[in-house]
Amino acid sequence: MTDSSSSSGLRPQMLGKQVDGTVPHSARVWNYWLGGTDNFAADRVLGDQVRAVFPNIVEVARASRAFLGRAVRYLAGEAGIRQFLDVGTGLPTADNTHEVAQRIAPQSRIVYVDNDPLVLVHARALLTSTRRGPPTTSRRMCGTRTRSSGPRRGPWISVNRSH
Ligand SMILES: C[S@@+](CC[C@H](N)C(=O)[O-])C[C@H]1O[C@@H](n2cnc3c(N)ncnc32)[C@H](O)[C@@H]1O
Repeated sequence: MTDSSSSSGLRPQMLGKQVDGTVPHSARVWNYWLGGTDNFAADRVLGDQVRAVFPNIVEVARASRAFLGRAVRYLAGEAGIRQFLDVGTGLPTADNTHEVAQRIAPQSRIVYVDNDPLVLVHARALLTSTRRGPPTTSRRMCGTRTRSSGPRRGPWISVNRSH
């Protein structure tokens, strides 16, 4: 494709100097496998190449995402949790943690953490929240002190971090 736009209309140059949308990126390839629209031609090419050698990858990605949704639904519903720390967020897609939790309990607070600057750029552009403005996203927020310093510890969500 001569135009490397994503199908959601994002263009590599919109992402700023720190992100090269013409080079495939793991978070956007994951977004492609999930059926998201925030990926570029280069990501789709790599995604298809990986799928050629590991045909189940799309099912793995979607099952993993579905598990995240079930876990958050349970925690926000039956367990009554109202604060979530989502580590290894990835790119926003359908049923992000704050959407699932706030559907059940609108007062839920979610902090997203990802060590990839691309995710932060996308999240600032795409994420919205029901009550408190966009969820906080910071690649710098990590480590035990941060995790345990809140008034009450909530669930520690880490699905598919690579390390
Ligand atoms: C598979 S993707 C996103 C998965 C997403 N949680 C989901 O369920 O769809 C994994 C994400 O984890 C992030 N990640 C990997 N290692 C990390 C680390 N040590 N700390 C924070 N984020 C990390 C990557 O940047 C990537 O965006």
